[in-house]
Amino acid sequence: MARKVTKAVFPVAGLGTRFLPATKSIPKEIMTLVDRPLIQYAIDEARAAGIKEFIFVTSRGKSALEDYFDHAPELETSLRKKGKDDLLEVLKDTNMDSGAIAYIRQHKALGLGHAVWCARRLISPNEPFAVLLPDDVIAAETPCLQQMTEAYEETGGCMVAAMEVPPEKASAYGLLKVSQDIGQKVKVAGMVEKPKPEDAPSNLAVIGRYILNNKVLQNLNKMKGGAGGEIQLTDAIAQEIEQGRDVWGYRFRGQRFDCGSKAGFLQATVAFGLSRPELQEEFSEYLNELISVQRAAQ
Ligand code: G1P
Repeated sequence: MARKVTKAVFPVAGLGTRFLPATKSIPKEIMTLVDRPLIQYAIDEARAAGIKEFIFVTSRGKSALEDYFDHAPELETSLRKKGKDDLLEVLKDTNMDSGAIAYIRQHKALGLGHAVWCARRLISPNEPFAVLLPDDVIAAETPCLQQMTEAYEETGGCMVAAMEVPPEKASAYGLLKVSQDIGQKVKVAGMVEKPKPEDAPSNLAVIGRYILNNKVLQNLNKMKGGAGGEIQLTDAIAQEIEQGRDVWGYRFRGQRFDCGSKAGFLQATVAFGLSRPELQEEFSEYLNELISVQRAAQ
């Protein structure tokens, strides 16, 4: 049985240029779906999967993220004085045990693979670790990473979350070449990052959840620029297969939102808004009204 996964890396160094001007002064991971920042969704998912140590790979201008996971004594005192226990409870999700969270800087934007590699000294030689990309928000009954850690306990190796995407969008992803399809799990024969449409091995795409081992970090040690001139995590995992080790794709159950794009972010806002009992009635009424007005105008 594979070792338990208790450590996770969150690459959060990106500039978030797609959301300028908002991201001029706030990290994109702090942008909120309803009332929780994107990073909170990723942390909640990691916690549900048993993650105890959180490594953030950050960059300049991300201090709001560090503050978010710190105690806020003035705010907490004021809420306590006012007897706002419900709000104090809400804040608990943002608290981290002392030493549970570490921040590493990625000094140059050299790609996702490089960002993960920056965390290498915080991961022991035989320790598996998860990587979560907070842009990918996944709504699921059983959180996606938990589904994966359960599957990983049987398979070991490396595992990436996978999802069929429309063929015309496949070139925006890391894509899997499948050698064995056993339903939820697929055995991966090859991986390629953002290939040209004619080179796509399939439309089964990598989604931002990974369970990796130290060998991937060793592969990253030697890595040069791949697709888009960046050091790609996909390439380092693909090398695992070339070196004769197992890589699995896991078709998770759940709905994934691409919160790295404006359209995806808006879709997630609507979906998460509608899933909130306190907002459901008012919000769905508004959406229905909007739809009827639009239909009438057509
Ligand atoms: C990253 C990965 C890519 C993956 C995608 C999922 O790309 O490099 O393999 O398919 O996340 O969201 P990015 O979207 O950061 O360009």
